[in-house]
Amino acid sequence: MIITLTANPSLDHTVELPGVVERGEVLRALASREQPGGKGVNVSRAVAAAELSTVAVLPGESSDPMVESLRDQGIDVLAVPTGQPVRRNITLTEPDGTTTKINEPGPLLSEDDATRLVDATARAAAGAEWLVVAGSLPPGLAPDFYARVVRAARALAADGRPLVAVDSSGAPLAALLAAFADSGERVDLIKPNGAELAELTGIASGEDIEADPALAAAVAATLVGSAEAPGPVVAVLVTLGSRGAVLVEADQAWSAQAPKIVARSTVGAGDSSLAGYLIAHTAGLPPAARLAQAVAHGAAAAALPGSDVPALSETDAAAIDVGPLPHLDRLGDRALHLMRP
Ligand SMILES: Nc1ncnc2c1ncn2[C@@H]1O[C@H](COP(=O)(O)OP(=O)(O)OP(=O)(O)O)[C@@H](O)[C@H]1O
Ligand SMILES: [Mg+2]
Repeated sequence: MIITLTANPSLDHTVELPGVVERGEVLRALASREQPGGKGVNVSRAVAAAELSTVAVLPGESSDPMVESLRDQGIDVLAVPTGQPVRRNITLTEPDGTTTKINEPGPLLSEDDATRLVDATARAAAGAEWLVVAGSLPPGLAPDFYARVVRAARALAADGRPLVAVDSSGAPLAALLAAFADSGERVDLIKPNGAELAELTGIASGEDIEADPALAAAVAATLVGSAEAPGPVVAVLVTLGSRGAVLVEADQAWSAQAPKIVARSTVGAGDSSLAGYLIAHTAGLPPAARLAQAVAHGAAAAALPGSDVPALSETDAAAIDVGPLPHLDRLGDRALHLMRP
């Protein structure tokens, strides 16, 4: 069982335009569609597409159109009532592929909402294999929200389960890792892209990280630390867009190139990568094979329109070449330069 928490889910409304966006004009749409969105929601959709069990936990009314749409897709949802509608995000697409996004902030959640969301997530995650916390936080939730969730889940846990994966950015991710670096707790997996890893560590630019898997691994290694001085993260999966991904654990790192594909929409590719990793982990596969499945899943998602997720049969992990990165440069004394929120 893989539980996901999406603290700031959305109903994504995509409007296809026949031409460019002209400010101040009446624009006529060619077509439009609505899809439930949010990082954890996407992970649950990809996990369900691989026929594994998953529950998507999110704040929202059970009767909310976003929640109903997710259930219509066969996804189990644990909706924690807030008395407010799930936010709507709007994407305008032009014929040349240019997209303009308007994201609402999300409802203002109260301390009572926060507490009920933490409790519901911890109870759902008790006994699960993985808990995935993903995405941004809505207004009202303090940056330490993810630390609260992980601690509450672990307080109910047995046998080291659930393992915890985090796919977030900015203050919520930085606050979680800073708190864990101070307390000696660890998150089992994070999945930053190049820009997110750059922002978190302050060591190199996102472009440099994305262009250089060895640099990506070296920067990620500062979060993992060493046996003598463990960092706040057990493993880092850094996705590098069309360049593939690297996986860094305590003593080892691997890199994998992405296959050549015709990319239709990379939106949510990273969420599918994380799902691919978790699916392979759940199947008991070793790290290199998990990385291969992550890259295969991301590439298959990028070849699909919108934030569509692939079925397992649409991914080809065997075609992904994974190699060890033998000399993990530990960046000398630049260990753990965590950005603090
Ligand atoms: N153009 C592409 N060609 C081939 N594979 C791609 C391409 N873009 C993305 N991928 C695959 O998807 C994975 C994740 O992509 P990326 O690093 O862009 O994620 P991300 O920035 O976290 O995306 P998001 O947060 O929108 O889901 C990559 O590791 C790769 O396997
Ligand atoms: Mg991402």
